[in-house]
Amino acid sequence: MSIRRRFFAATYDRQLRRAEKCGLTDMRRGLLAQAAGDVLEIGGGTGANLAHYQPAVTSLTLTEPDGSMLKRLERHAQQAAPSALVLRAPAEDLPFDDDTFDTVVSTLVLCRVDDQPRAVREIRRVLRPEGRLLFLEHVRGADAKLAKKQDRMNWLNRVVVCCDCNRPTLDTLEQGGFRLTALEHTELPKAPSFVRPTIVGSAVAAVAAGPARVASPDKELAAVMDAVMKGMTGDA
Ligand SMILES: C[S@@+](CC[C@H](N)C(=O)[O-])C[C@H]1O[C@@H](n2cnc3c(N)ncnc32)[C@H](O)[C@@H]1O
Repeated sequence: MSIRRRFFAATYDRQLRRAEKCGLTDMRRGLLAQAAGDVLEIGGGTGANLAHYQPAVTSLTLTEPDGSMLKRLERHAQQAAPSALVLRAPAEDLPFDDDTFDTVVSTLVLCRVDDQPRAVREIRRVLRPEGRLLFLEHVRGADAKLAKKQDRMNWLNRVVVCCDCNRPTLDTLEQGGFRLTALEHTELPKAPSFVRPTIVGSAVAAVAAGPARVASPDKELAAVMDAVMKGMTGDA
């Protein structure tokens, strides 16, 4: 494990302290109040979301691929959510069957995964058909000038906070088959301008339009019976 990753994990809570105080914690609380049923949180980090899950959550599973983060997450979960299952796994390769969860939570993770489209496909796969993705992610800005600055500064962002600040995450979600059900464009509090553009919201798997049914089963049965009767009586 690289020293940089260990350092990042050891200082993560400190790095976010001001942002949390100035609004990030409130954003987490508002988002996670919507989590319900069997919940999976990907990239759980140090467990900053643990305090915000409500009784509507019937089971909680947390995944985290980074060993240093995982140790912290396990410790935190033991205290704040002792019944939670904590597993080591990247979002691109989730060790769960299809249709396992009612809610998947991703906060400040899709900026960080190695393969964003693949992670989004995996989230969709493990969600039940009516399940919801709850997300809070810093993203590429809508303003062209800011987006250019994000492209210029991304190398630095990668070095300091180990993630990309210029990802078109909303596009990836939509291209990955998600339909947005709530979306707020906001800012990550106390972050440098190139890390500020943030999206918070929810999405469900878009239902592909299937072939239109010509008739209901009852009508179809009636039509068959009609044809049989006509055949028997010679009316056809
Ligand atoms: C900025 S931290 C966010 C932590 C936490 N979700 C939060 O809201 O504070 C990014 C997290 O994503 C994790 N991560 C990195 N690569 C990942 C991947 N491929 N799949 C899932 N999580 C990943 C990191 O180890 C880290 O814990």
